[in-house]
Amino acid sequence: MLAETLIGTGAIAAGGFVYAKSRRARLYREAADRIAQILRASEPDLAALKSRSLPDFTDHLAVLPDFLPAASFAALAAEAERLVSPERSFVPAHKRGGTVAYETLIAAAPAIVASYHSAGLRDIVSRLVGVPVRPTPIHDQSSLSVLVYNKPGDHIGWHYDHNFYRGRHFTVLLAIDNSGRAAHGLSHAVLEARLPGREIAIGTAANTLVVFEGARVRHKVTPIRDGERRLVLSMTFCTDPSSAWWQGWSRRLKDTAFFGVRALWT
Ligand SMILES: [Fe+2]
Repeated sequence: MLAETLIGTGAIAAGGFVYAKSRRARLYREAADRIAQILRASEPDLAALKSRSLPDFTDHLAVLPDFLPAASFAALAAEAERLVSPERSFVPAHKRGGTVAYETLIAAAPAIVASYHSAGLRDIVSRLVGVPVRPTPIHDQSSLSVLVYNKPGDHIGWHYDHNFYRGRHFTVLLAIDNSGRAAHGLSHAVLEARLPGREIAIGTAANTLVVFEGARVRHKVTPIRDGERRLVLSMTFCTDPSSAWWQGWSRRLKDTAFFGVRALWT
């Protein structure tokens, strides 16, 4: 009797897992179709980025102020601002802040999705880091998200961005809004990074792009204060999006911190 109950429970659990996995696979196919549709409708014109001179990337980090042409930036900012009620995440003593997930952006932010997948952005990041890169896979919740720091204390402690791929992995942040009572009207949420022999604080006014190799550069964001806001478009690119099985599982476990246990089925 006990054996039959155990077998029955195991069968139900296995069936549930297979169902959830196939459901996620269908959602990813639909999301991929939607991205293709967005790109067909409006590939953003980022030709102006082609002629831009680029800073050095020897320390695996570079900052590009006034990054996008004004009209392109305004379109992205308008979409990000419209995305209300972000999913909140809370990982004690490590990260506080809201995150708008990739799947939400695919459904509701075509200009943001089109920019992330545009040849213009891919080319300039590739030129900057010195190797050809491409967007990370659709099932990776870190590929594209909007990070929201707007509650007093929202921050993220010192960390590396773990690389879940065989190839190199780059984090690309575009500041959408950064307003508060610190110098130059910015918020107190400051991106700090440890480079060889020094620690730097990066002022990220709106339309500043920061590119870094997160697995090599330790970084953090200091706590935001009451009444301040920092809105960041976070993107990841990699040189080879394939991953070993253990890298895939590590990524899923990390994603649960941001998006709950449903990330295990991705
Ligand atoms: Fe990070």
